[in-house]
Amino acid sequence: RLLIIDFGSQVTQLIARRLRELNIYCEIHPYNRVDDAFLASFAPQAVILSGGPDSVTRPGSPRAPEALWSFGVPVLGICYGQQTMMQQLGGLVESGHGTAEFGRAFVTPGADKLSILDGWFTDGNEQVWMSHGDHVSRIAPGFQVYGTSPNAPFAITADVSRNFYAVQFHPEVHHTPKGAKLYENFVRLAGFTGDWTMAGYREQAIAQIRAQVGDKQVICGLSGGVDSSVAAILIHEAIGDQLTCVFVDHGLLRKDEAAQVVAMFRDNYNIKLIAADESDLFLGELEGISDPEVKRKTIGRLFIDVFQKYANQIEGAEFLAQGTLYPDVIESVSFSGGPSVTIKSHHNVGGLPEKMGLKLVEPLRELFKDEVRALGRELGLPQSFIGRHPFPGPGLAIRCPGEITREKLEILRNADAVYIDQIRKHGLYDDIWQAFAAILPMRTVGVMGDGRTYDYALALRAVTSVDGMTADYYPYTHEFLGETATRIINEVKGVNRVFYDCTSKPPGTIELE
Ligand code: XMP
Repeated sequence: RLLIIDFGSQVTQLIARRLRELNIYCEIHPYNRVDDAFLASFAPQAVILSGGPDSVTRPGSPRAPEALWSFGVPVLGICYGQQTMMQQLGGLVESGHGTAEFGRAFVTPGADKLSILDGWFTDGNEQVWMSHGDHVSRIAPGFQVYGTSPNAPFAITADVSRNFYAVQFHPEVHHTPKGAKLYENFVRLAGFTGDWTMAGYREQAIAQIRAQVGDKQVICGLSGGVDSSVAAILIHEAIGDQLTCVFVDHGLLRKDEAAQVVAMFRDNYNIKLIAADESDLFLGELEGISDPEVKRKTIGRLFIDVFQKYANQIEGAEFLAQGTLYPDVIESVSFSGGPSVTIKSHHNVGGLPEKMGLKLVEPLRELFKDEVRALGRELGLPQSFIGRHPFPGPGLAIRCPGEITREKLEILRNADAVYIDQIRKHGLYDDIWQAFAAILPMRTVGVMGDGRTYDYALALRAVTSVDGMTADYYPYTHEFLGETATRIINEVKGVNRVFYDCTSKPPGTIELE
Protein backbone atom coordinates (compact mmCIF):
# COMPACT_ATOMS: atom_id res chain seq x y z
CA ARG A 1 0.00 0.00 0.00
CA LEU A 2 0.93 3.58 -0.56
CA LEU A 3 1.09 6.35 2.04
CA ILE A 4 0.15 9.94 1.23
CA ILE A 5 1.47 12.37 3.82
CA ASP A 6 -0.90 15.34 3.85
CA PHE A 7 0.55 18.81 4.34
CA GLY A 8 -2.86 20.43 3.99
CA SER A 9 -3.30 21.04 0.26
CA GLN A 10 -6.87 21.62 -0.94
CA VAL A 11 -6.36 18.87 -3.50
CA THR A 12 -4.73 16.07 -1.47
CA GLN A 13 -7.84 13.91 -1.91
CA LEU A 14 -7.36 14.08 -5.66
CA ILE A 15 -4.01 12.30 -5.31
CA ALA A 16 -5.84 9.41 -3.67
CA ARG A 17 -8.48 9.51 -6.41
CA ARG A 18 -5.84 9.26 -9.15
CA LEU A 19 -4.20 6.29 -7.40
CA ARG A 20 -7.47 4.48 -6.76
CA GLU A 21 -8.24 4.87 -10.47
CA LEU A 22 -5.08 2.87 -11.04
CA ASN A 23 -6.36 0.18 -8.63
CA ILE A 24 -3.75 1.08 -6.04
CA TYR A 25 -4.66 1.02 -2.38
CA CYS A 26 -3.54 4.19 -0.59
CA GLU A 27 -4.26 6.09 2.60
CA ILE A 28 -3.95 9.79 3.44
CA HIS A 29 -2.52 10.67 6.86
CA PRO A 30 -1.82 14.17 8.23
CA TYR A 31 1.86 15.04 8.56
CA ASN A 32 1.57 15.60 12.32
CA ARG A 33 0.52 11.97 12.82
CA VAL A 34 3.23 10.46 10.67
CA ASP A 35 6.36 10.01 12.76
CA ASP A 36 9.15 7.46 12.41
CA ALA A 37 7.20 4.83 14.40
CA PHE A 38 4.06 5.29 12.30
CA LEU A 39 6.08 4.91 9.15
CA ALA A 40 7.56 1.65 10.37
CA SER A 41 4.19 0.19 11.36
CA PHE A 42 2.39 1.34 8.18
CA ALA A 43 5.22 -0.10 6.09
CA PRO A 44 4.33 1.69 2.84
CA GLN A 45 5.63 0.47 -0.48
CA ALA A 46 5.89 4.09 -1.65
CA VAL A 47 5.22 7.54 -0.19
CA ILE A 48 3.79 10.73 -1.70
CA LEU A 49 4.25 14.08 0.03
CA SER A 50 1.31 16.38 -0.74
CA GLY A 51 1.25 20.11 -1.29
CA GLY A 52 0.30 22.48 1.50
CA PRO A 53 -0.33 26.12 2.34
CA ASP A 54 2.58 26.71 4.75
CA SER A 55 6.07 27.93 3.84
CA VAL A 56 9.05 25.67 4.54
CA THR A 57 11.03 28.85 5.26
CA ARG A 58 8.88 29.47 8.35
CA PRO A 59 10.49 28.10 11.53
CA GLY A 60 8.45 25.17 12.87
CA SER A 61 6.70 24.49 9.55
CA PRO A 62 5.71 20.87 8.77
CA ARG A 63 8.31 18.26 7.78
CA ALA A 64 8.35 14.67 6.61
CA PRO A 65 9.61 12.18 9.21
CA GLU A 66 13.40 11.89 9.08
CA ALA A 67 13.23 8.10 8.84
CA LEU A 68 11.62 8.45 5.42
CA TRP A 69 14.93 9.32 3.78
CA SER A 70 16.49 6.01 4.77
CA PHE A 71 13.33 3.92 4.53
CA GLY A 72 14.30 2.63 1.10
CA VAL A 73 11.00 3.15 -0.77
CA PRO A 74 10.27 5.54 -3.68
CA VAL A 75 9.17 9.02 -2.57
CA LEU A 76 7.37 11.61 -4.69
CA GLY A 77 7.18 15.19 -3.38
CA ILE A 78 4.57 17.57 -4.78
CA CYS A 79 4.73 21.36 -4.38
CA TYR A 80 5.16 21.87 -0.60
CA GLY A 81 6.18 18.19 -0.43
CA GLN A 82 8.88 18.89 -3.00
CA GLN A 83 10.10 21.91 -1.07
CA THR A 84 10.34 20.19 2.29
CA MET A 85 12.11 17.27 0.59
CA MET A 86 14.74 19.66 -0.80
CA GLN A 87 15.12 21.53 2.47
CA GLN A 88 15.43 18.33 4.53
CA LEU A 89 17.95 16.79 2.13
CA GLY A 90 20.27 19.80 2.02
CA GLY A 91 18.84 22.07 -0.69
CA LEU A 92 17.45 25.58 -0.26
CA VAL A 93 13.95 27.05 -0.54
CA GLU A 94 13.26 30.76 -0.71
CA SER A 95 10.16 32.90 -0.48
CA GLY A 96 8.82 35.37 -2.98
CA HIS A 97 11.25 37.39 -5.10
CA GLY A 98 8.58 37.57 -7.78
CA THR A 99 8.78 33.89 -8.63
CA ALA A 100 5.34 32.85 -7.44
CA GLU A 101 3.37 30.97 -10.07
CA PHE A 102 -0.33 30.30 -10.08
CA GLY A 103 -2.16 28.50 -12.83
CA ARG A 104 -1.07 27.13 -16.18
CA ALA A 105 2.63 26.80 -16.96
CA PHE A 106 4.65 24.86 -19.51
CA VAL A 107 7.53 22.59 -18.58
CA THR A 108 10.50 22.10 -20.91
CA PRO A 109 12.28 18.73 -20.69
CA GLY A 110 15.81 18.43 -19.30
CA ALA A 111 18.66 16.70 -21.15
CA ASP A 112 18.12 13.24 -19.67
CA LYS A 113 15.08 10.99 -19.64
CA LEU A 114 13.28 10.15 -16.39
CA SER A 115 11.17 7.00 -15.97
CA ILE A 116 8.27 8.74 -14.23
CA LEU A 117 8.02 11.03 -17.28
CA ASP A 118 7.45 8.21 -19.77
CA GLY A 119 4.85 9.44 -22.24
CA TRP A 120 5.55 13.09 -21.45
CA PHE A 121 6.95 15.74 -23.82
CA THR A 122 5.67 13.90 -26.89
CA ASP A 123 4.58 17.24 -28.36
CA GLY A 124 7.45 19.34 -26.99
CA ASN A 125 6.59 21.16 -23.78
CA GLU A 126 4.06 19.83 -21.30
CA GLN A 127 1.25 21.78 -19.66
CA VAL A 128 1.15 21.65 -15.86
CA TRP A 129 -0.73 23.44 -13.09
CA MET A 130 1.31 25.49 -10.62
CA SER A 131 0.30 27.02 -7.32
CA HIS A 132 3.27 28.16 -5.29
CA GLY A 133 4.67 31.24 -3.60
CA ASP A 134 8.02 29.76 -2.50
CA HIS A 135 10.47 28.14 -4.84
CA VAL A 136 13.48 25.87 -4.63
CA SER A 137 16.61 27.95 -5.27
CA ARG A 138 19.17 25.17 -4.79
CA ILE A 139 18.51 21.48 -5.22
CA ALA A 140 19.75 18.92 -2.70
CA PRO A 141 22.98 16.99 -3.35
CA GLY A 142 22.39 13.97 -5.58
CA PHE A 143 19.44 15.56 -7.43
CA GLN A 144 19.36 16.36 -11.13
CA VAL A 145 16.98 18.59 -13.13
CA TYR A 146 14.59 16.90 -15.59
CA GLY A 147 12.21 19.76 -16.37
CA THR A 148 12.05 23.55 -16.06
CA SER A 149 9.35 26.17 -16.36
CA PRO A 150 9.84 29.93 -16.80
CA ASN A 151 9.40 30.59 -13.07
CA ALA A 152 10.50 27.22 -11.69
CA PRO A 153 13.99 26.24 -12.84
CA PHE A 154 13.59 23.10 -10.74
CA ALA A 155 10.07 22.10 -11.85
CA ILE A 156 11.03 18.41 -12.02
CA THR A 157 14.02 17.01 -10.18
CA ALA A 158 15.03 13.55 -9.03
CA ASP A 159 17.72 11.56 -7.30
CA VAL A 160 17.25 8.38 -9.29
CA SER A 161 19.76 6.37 -7.25
CA ARG A 162 17.61 6.84 -4.13
CA ASN A 163 14.24 6.85 -5.98
CA PHE A 164 13.37 10.37 -4.79
CA TYR A 165 11.24 12.43 -7.20
CA ALA A 166 10.12 16.01 -6.76
CA VAL A 167 7.77 18.19 -8.80
CA GLN A 168 6.79 21.81 -8.23
CA PHE A 169 3.39 21.48 -9.95
CA HIS A 170 0.26 19.50 -9.12
CA PRO A 171 -0.01 16.33 -11.25
CA GLU A 172 -3.30 15.39 -9.52
CA VAL A 173 -5.41 18.19 -11.03
CA HIS A 174 -7.13 18.06 -14.41
CA HIS A 175 -5.16 21.04 -15.68
CA THR A 176 -2.05 18.88 -15.68
CA PRO A 177 -3.30 16.69 -18.54
CA LYS A 178 -0.53 14.06 -18.28
CA GLY A 179 -0.59 14.05 -14.45
CA ALA A 180 -2.30 10.65 -14.26
CA LYS A 181 0.47 9.21 -16.45
CA LEU A 182 3.09 10.52 -14.04
CA TYR A 183 1.37 8.79 -11.12
CA GLU A 184 1.04 5.61 -13.14
CA ASN A 185 4.77 5.61 -13.94
CA PHE A 186 5.59 6.29 -10.30
CA VAL A 187 3.54 3.42 -8.89
CA ARG A 188 4.81 0.96 -11.53
CA LEU A 189 8.35 1.91 -10.57
CA ALA A 190 7.42 1.24 -6.92
CA GLY A 191 6.33 -2.27 -7.91
CA PHE A 192 2.54 -1.87 -7.65
CA THR A 193 0.60 -4.08 -10.04
CA GLY A 194 -2.78 -2.39 -9.64
CA ASP A 195 -4.59 -5.43 -8.30
CA TRP A 196 -6.85 -3.65 -5.83
CA THR A 197 -10.33 -4.38 -7.18
CA MET A 198 -13.87 -4.23 -5.84
CA ALA A 199 -14.15 -8.01 -5.95
CA GLY A 200 -11.03 -8.18 -3.78
CA TYR A 201 -12.34 -5.46 -1.50
CA ARG A 202 -15.60 -7.33 -1.03
CA GLU A 203 -13.80 -10.51 0.11
CA GLN A 204 -11.47 -8.59 2.39
CA ALA A 205 -14.30 -6.52 3.93
CA ILE A 206 -16.39 -9.63 4.59
CA ALA A 207 -13.50 -11.32 6.39
CA GLN A 208 -12.93 -8.17 8.44
CA ILE A 209 -16.59 -7.82 9.43
CA ARG A 210 -16.67 -11.46 10.56
CA ALA A 211 -13.51 -11.02 12.60
CA GLN A 212 -14.77 -7.82 14.21
CA VAL A 213 -18.32 -8.91 15.02
CA GLY A 214 -17.85 -12.57 15.93
CA ASP A 215 -21.23 -13.99 16.96
CA LYS A 216 -22.68 -10.68 18.18
CA GLN A 217 -25.69 -8.79 16.82
CA VAL A 218 -25.43 -5.71 14.57
CA ILE A 219 -28.00 -2.96 13.98
CA CYS A 220 -28.01 -0.86 10.83
CA GLY A 221 -30.10 2.21 10.13
CA LEU A 222 -31.29 2.12 6.53
CA SER A 223 -32.15 5.40 4.87
CA GLY A 224 -32.79 4.05 1.39
CA GLY A 225 -29.67 5.87 0.18
CA VAL A 226 -26.78 4.17 -1.58
CA ASP A 227 -24.26 4.23 1.28
CA SER A 228 -26.33 2.65 4.03
CA SER A 229 -27.80 0.16 1.52
CA VAL A 230 -24.40 -1.05 0.30
CA ALA A 231 -23.13 -1.27 3.88
CA ALA A 232 -26.17 -3.33 4.92
CA ILE A 233 -25.92 -5.76 2.00
CA LEU A 234 -22.20 -6.27 2.53
CA ILE A 235 -22.64 -6.89 6.27
CA HIS A 236 -25.54 -9.23 5.56
CA GLU A 237 -23.31 -11.20 3.23
CA ALA A 238 -20.76 -11.48 6.03
CA ILE A 239 -22.96 -12.33 9.02
CA GLY A 240 -26.48 -13.08 7.69
CA ASP A 241 -29.16 -12.99 10.37
CA GLN A 242 -26.91 -11.41 12.97
CA LEU A 243 -27.79 -8.16 11.16
CA THR A 244 -31.08 -6.34 11.74
CA CYS A 245 -31.87 -3.21 9.76
CA VAL A 246 -34.10 -0.44 11.03
CA PHE A 247 -35.87 1.73 8.48
CA VAL A 248 -37.72 4.71 9.91
CA ASP A 249 -40.46 6.18 7.74
CA HIS A 250 -40.73 9.74 9.01
CA GLY A 251 -43.58 10.54 6.63
CA LEU A 252 -41.27 12.76 4.58
CA LEU A 253 -40.25 10.24 1.94
CA ARG A 254 -40.99 10.35 -1.77
CA LYS A 255 -43.85 8.55 -3.47
CA ASP A 256 -43.77 4.76 -2.83
CA GLU A 257 -40.28 5.03 -1.39
CA ALA A 258 -40.96 3.19 1.87
CA ALA A 259 -42.58 0.28 0.05
CA GLN A 260 -39.68 0.05 -2.40
CA VAL A 261 -37.08 -0.07 0.36
CA VAL A 262 -38.98 -2.79 2.21
CA ALA A 263 -39.44 -4.82 -0.98
CA MET A 264 -35.81 -4.63 -1.89
CA PHE A 265 -34.25 -5.44 1.47
CA ARG A 266 -36.79 -7.83 2.94
CA ASP A 267 -37.96 -9.66 -0.19
CA ASN A 268 -34.95 -9.41 -2.49
CA TYR A 269 -32.05 -9.63 -0.11
CA ASN A 270 -33.82 -11.46 2.71
CA ILE A 271 -32.44 -9.08 5.32
CA LYS A 272 -34.13 -8.89 8.75
CA LEU A 273 -35.83 -5.51 8.65
CA ILE A 274 -37.85 -3.47 11.10
CA ALA A 275 -39.85 -1.00 9.01
CA ALA A 276 -41.21 1.56 11.42
CA ASP A 277 -43.98 3.87 10.27
CA GLU A 278 -43.49 6.83 12.58
CA SER A 279 -45.04 9.41 10.27
CA ASP A 280 -47.72 10.39 12.81
CA LEU A 281 -45.08 11.19 15.39
CA PHE A 282 -42.88 13.26 13.05
CA LEU A 283 -45.68 15.10 11.26
CA GLY A 284 -47.42 15.75 14.58
CA GLU A 285 -44.32 17.32 16.11
CA LEU A 286 -43.63 19.34 12.96
CA GLU A 287 -47.11 20.87 12.95
CA GLY A 288 -47.00 24.65 13.00
CA ILE A 289 -43.21 24.84 12.56
CA SER A 290 -42.00 26.93 9.64
CA ASP A 291 -38.46 27.88 10.68
CA PRO A 292 -36.00 25.74 8.65
CA GLU A 293 -33.51 25.21 11.47
CA VAL A 294 -36.23 24.28 13.97
CA LYS A 295 -37.59 21.78 11.42
CA ARG A 296 -34.17 20.22 10.91
CA LYS A 297 -33.41 20.00 14.63
CA THR A 298 -36.84 18.54 15.42
CA ILE A 299 -36.39 15.81 12.81
CA GLY A 300 -32.85 15.04 13.98
CA ARG A 301 -33.92 14.75 17.61
CA LEU A 302 -36.96 12.58 16.88
CA PHE A 303 -34.94 10.34 14.59
CA ILE A 304 -32.45 9.54 17.32
CA ASP A 305 -35.24 8.84 19.86
CA VAL A 306 -37.12 6.58 17.45
CA PHE A 307 -34.05 4.73 16.27
CA GLN A 308 -33.03 4.09 19.85
CA LYS A 309 -36.49 2.77 20.70
CA TYR A 310 -36.34 0.16 17.93
CA ALA A 311 -32.69 -0.66 18.49
CA ASN A 312 -33.47 -1.46 22.13
CA GLN A 313 -35.78 -4.21 20.90
CA ILE A 314 -32.90 -6.05 19.31
CA GLU A 315 -31.51 -8.28 21.98
CA GLY A 316 -27.77 -8.45 22.49
CA ALA A 317 -26.94 -5.77 19.92
CA GLU A 318 -23.36 -4.65 20.40
CA PHE A 319 -22.59 -3.03 17.07
CA LEU A 320 -24.01 -0.22 15.00
CA ALA A 321 -23.31 -0.30 11.26
CA GLN A 322 -22.81 2.97 9.42
CA GLY A 323 -22.14 3.85 5.80
CA THR A 324 -19.33 6.29 6.64
CA LEU A 325 -17.20 7.11 3.58
CA TYR A 326 -13.53 7.96 3.24
CA PRO A 327 -13.98 11.73 2.75
CA ASP A 328 -15.65 11.84 6.20
CA VAL A 329 -12.76 9.94 7.74
CA ILE A 330 -9.79 11.86 6.39
CA GLU A 331 -8.59 14.20 9.08
CA SER A 332 -8.17 17.49 7.34
CA VAL A 333 -5.08 19.53 8.03
CA SER A 334 -6.49 23.00 8.30
CA PHE A 335 -4.33 26.05 8.80
CA SER A 336 -7.11 28.55 8.46
CA GLY A 337 -8.61 27.88 11.89
CA GLY A 338 -11.68 29.61 13.23
CA PRO A 339 -15.19 28.26 13.37
CA SER A 340 -17.12 28.19 10.11
CA VAL A 341 -20.66 29.46 9.84
CA THR A 342 -23.48 26.92 10.06
CA ILE A 343 -25.56 27.32 6.92
CA LYS A 344 -27.76 24.32 7.69
CA SER A 345 -27.78 21.84 10.57
CA HIS A 346 -27.39 18.57 8.77
CA HIS A 347 -29.45 15.68 9.87
CA ASN A 348 -27.04 12.90 10.76
CA VAL A 349 -26.82 10.17 13.32
CA GLY A 350 -23.21 10.80 14.30
CA GLY A 351 -24.05 11.04 18.00
CA LEU A 352 -25.88 7.72 18.12
CA PRO A 353 -23.10 5.27 18.96
CA GLU A 354 -21.96 7.10 22.12
CA LYS A 355 -25.55 7.57 23.29
CA MET A 356 -26.31 3.91 22.82
CA GLY A 357 -23.00 2.47 23.97
CA LEU A 358 -22.50 0.62 20.69
CA LYS A 359 -19.32 -0.13 18.79
CA LEU A 360 -19.16 0.88 15.15
CA VAL A 361 -18.94 -1.29 12.04
CA GLU A 362 -18.02 0.92 9.08
CA PRO A 363 -17.15 -1.28 6.10
CA LEU A 364 -17.05 1.65 3.64
CA ARG A 365 -14.62 3.84 5.60
CA GLU A 366 -11.92 3.36 3.00
CA LEU A 367 -14.02 4.09 -0.07
CA PHE A 368 -14.92 7.11 -2.13
CA LYS A 369 -18.49 7.58 -3.32
CA ASP A 370 -17.95 6.19 -6.80
CA GLU A 371 -16.18 3.18 -5.30
CA VAL A 372 -19.22 2.54 -3.12
CA ARG A 373 -21.30 2.52 -6.30
CA ALA A 374 -18.88 0.06 -7.88
CA LEU A 375 -19.13 -2.14 -4.79
CA GLY A 376 -22.93 -1.89 -4.99
CA ARG A 377 -22.80 -3.15 -8.58
CA GLU A 378 -20.48 -5.94 -7.44
CA LEU A 379 -23.11 -6.89 -4.83
CA GLY A 380 -25.83 -7.01 -7.47
CA LEU A 381 -27.67 -3.77 -6.72
CA PRO A 382 -29.51 -2.55 -9.82
CA GLN A 383 -27.99 0.44 -11.65
CA SER A 384 -31.29 2.32 -11.32
CA PHE A 385 -30.79 2.23 -7.56
CA ILE A 386 -27.06 2.92 -7.53
CA GLY A 387 -27.37 5.94 -9.81
CA ARG A 388 -30.12 7.61 -7.81
CA HIS A 389 -29.82 11.32 -7.04
CA PRO A 390 -28.93 12.24 -3.45
CA PHE A 391 -31.86 12.67 -1.06
CA PRO A 392 -31.47 14.64 2.17
CA GLY A 393 -32.03 13.12 5.62
CA PRO A 394 -34.86 15.55 6.53
CA GLY A 395 -36.56 14.51 3.29
CA LEU A 396 -39.47 16.46 1.87
CA ALA A 397 -39.61 18.67 4.99
CA ILE A 398 -36.98 20.96 3.48
CA ARG A 399 -38.74 20.97 0.11
CA CYS A 400 -41.85 22.37 1.70
CA PRO A 401 -40.85 25.88 2.82
CA GLY A 402 -43.11 27.21 5.53
CA GLU A 403 -45.50 25.01 7.42
CA ILE A 404 -45.68 21.31 6.55
CA THR A 405 -49.10 19.75 6.10
CA ARG A 406 -50.14 16.30 4.93
CA GLU A 407 -52.01 17.89 2.04
CA LYS A 408 -48.92 19.74 0.81
CA LEU A 409 -46.76 16.63 1.18
CA GLU A 410 -49.21 14.61 -0.89
CA ILE A 411 -49.23 17.21 -3.67
CA LEU A 412 -45.43 17.43 -3.54
CA ARG A 413 -45.01 13.63 -3.78
CA ASN A 414 -47.24 13.43 -6.83
CA ALA A 415 -45.63 16.41 -8.56
CA ASP A 416 -42.09 15.19 -7.85
CA ALA A 417 -42.95 11.78 -9.30
CA VAL A 418 -44.18 13.35 -12.55
CA TYR A 419 -41.14 15.62 -12.74
CA ILE A 420 -38.66 12.75 -12.27
CA ASP A 421 -40.61 10.64 -14.75
CA GLN A 422 -40.25 13.44 -17.32
CA ILE A 423 -36.49 13.62 -16.71
CA ARG A 424 -36.13 9.86 -17.14
CA LYS A 425 -38.27 9.81 -20.26
CA HIS A 426 -36.10 12.49 -21.84
CA GLY A 427 -32.92 10.59 -20.90
CA LEU A 428 -31.63 13.42 -18.70
CA TYR A 429 -31.54 11.70 -15.31
CA ASP A 430 -27.86 10.73 -15.39
CA ASP A 431 -26.75 14.14 -16.70
CA ILE A 432 -28.29 15.84 -13.69
CA TRP A 433 -26.69 15.62 -10.27
CA GLN A 434 -29.88 16.20 -8.34
CA ALA A 435 -33.42 17.14 -9.33
CA PHE A 436 -36.56 17.58 -7.28
CA ALA A 437 -39.75 19.57 -6.90
CA ALA A 438 -40.53 21.87 -3.97
CA ILE A 439 -43.96 23.16 -3.02
CA LEU A 440 -44.00 26.90 -2.37
CA PRO A 441 -45.81 28.46 0.59
CA MET A 442 -48.24 30.36 -1.60
CA ARG A 443 -51.34 29.86 -3.69
CA THR A 444 -51.93 31.62 -6.96
CA VAL A 445 -54.96 32.19 -9.13
CA GLY A 446 -55.39 30.31 -12.37
CA VAL A 447 -58.04 29.32 -14.84
CA MET A 448 -58.73 25.73 -15.88
CA GLY A 449 -61.62 24.88 -18.17
CA ASP A 450 -64.05 27.65 -17.45
CA GLY A 451 -63.32 27.78 -13.76
CA ARG A 452 -61.12 29.77 -11.44
CA THR A 453 -58.43 27.87 -9.54
CA TYR A 454 -56.58 28.95 -6.40
CA ASP A 455 -53.87 26.35 -5.94
CA TYR A 456 -50.27 25.85 -4.92
CA ALA A 457 -47.25 26.96 -6.92
CA LEU A 458 -44.38 24.57 -7.41
CA ALA A 459 -40.65 25.17 -7.92
CA LEU A 460 -38.59 22.72 -9.96
CA ARG A 461 -34.90 22.39 -9.22
CA ALA A 462 -32.17 20.58 -11.15
CA VAL A 463 -28.44 21.08 -10.70
CA THR A 464 -25.14 19.86 -12.01
CA SER A 465 -22.42 19.40 -9.41
CA VAL A 466 -19.48 17.20 -8.50
CA ASP A 467 -19.80 17.04 -4.75
CA GLY A 468 -22.78 19.20 -3.79
CA MET A 469 -20.49 21.93 -2.48
CA THR A 470 -21.00 24.11 -5.53
CA ALA A 471 -23.66 23.67 -8.18
CA ASP A 472 -25.09 25.20 -11.31
CA TYR A 473 -28.69 25.03 -12.47
CA TYR A 474 -29.36 22.57 -15.28
CA PRO A 475 -29.98 24.23 -18.68
CA TYR A 476 -33.23 22.53 -19.75
CA THR A 477 -34.69 23.51 -23.08
CA HIS A 478 -37.82 25.68 -23.07
CA GLU A 479 -39.69 22.81 -24.70
CA PHE A 480 -38.82 20.47 -21.86
CA LEU A 481 -39.82 23.03 -19.23
CA GLY A 482 -43.09 23.81 -20.98
CA GLU A 483 -44.00 20.15 -21.42
CA THR A 484 -43.13 19.37 -17.81
CA ALA A 485 -45.17 22.28 -16.41
CA THR A 486 -48.15 21.21 -18.51
CA ARG A 487 -47.89 17.59 -17.40
CA ILE A 488 -47.61 18.49 -13.71
CA ILE A 489 -50.58 20.87 -13.80
CA ASN A 490 -52.70 18.40 -15.75
CA GLU A 491 -51.78 15.34 -13.69
CA VAL A 492 -51.40 16.69 -10.17
CA LYS A 493 -54.41 18.02 -8.37
CA GLY A 494 -53.63 21.08 -6.25
CA VAL A 495 -50.98 22.72 -8.46
CA ASN A 496 -51.77 25.46 -10.96
CA ARG A 497 -48.39 27.14 -11.52
CA VAL A 498 -44.81 25.91 -12.01
CA PHE A 499 -41.55 27.87 -11.69
CA TYR A 500 -38.03 26.78 -12.61
CA ASP A 501 -35.26 27.75 -10.15
CA CYS A 502 -32.23 29.14 -12.05
CA THR A 503 -30.09 29.88 -8.99
CA SER A 504 -26.59 28.45 -8.77
CA LYS A 505 -24.82 27.53 -5.51
CA PRO A 506 -23.47 29.86 -4.27
CA PRO A 507 -25.37 32.14 -3.80
CA GLY A 508 -28.28 29.70 -3.44
CA THR A 509 -28.11 26.29 -1.82
CA ILE A 510 -29.36 23.15 -3.54
CA GLU A 511 -32.29 22.54 -1.22
CA LEU A 512 -34.67 25.44 -0.56
CA GLU A 513 -34.18 25.22 3.22
P1 XMP B 1 -27.47 22.22 0.19
O1 XMP B 1 -28.95 22.47 0.25
O2 XMP B 1 -26.79 22.43 1.51
O3 XMP B 1 -27.34 20.67 -0.14
O4 XMP B 1 -26.81 22.95 -0.92
C1 XMP B 1 -26.16 20.01 -0.53
C2 XMP B 1 -26.47 18.53 -0.63
O5 XMP B 1 -26.73 18.00 0.68
C3 XMP B 1 -28.02 17.45 0.74
N1 XMP B 1 -28.55 17.77 2.07
C4 XMP B 1 -28.56 16.91 3.11
N2 XMP B 1 -28.18 15.62 3.19
N3 XMP B 1 -28.85 15.57 5.45
C5 XMP B 1 -28.36 14.96 4.37
O6 XMP B 1 -28.06 13.76 4.45
C6 XMP B 1 -29.24 16.86 5.45
O7 XMP B 1 -29.68 17.39 6.47
C7 XMP B 1 -29.09 17.56 4.20
N4 XMP B 1 -29.38 18.84 3.83
C8 XMP B 1 -29.02 18.95 2.49
C9 XMP B 1 -28.80 18.08 -0.39
O8 XMP B 1 -29.88 17.25 -0.81
C10 XMP B 1 -27.71 18.22 -1.44
O9 XMP B 1 -27.50 16.98 -2.10
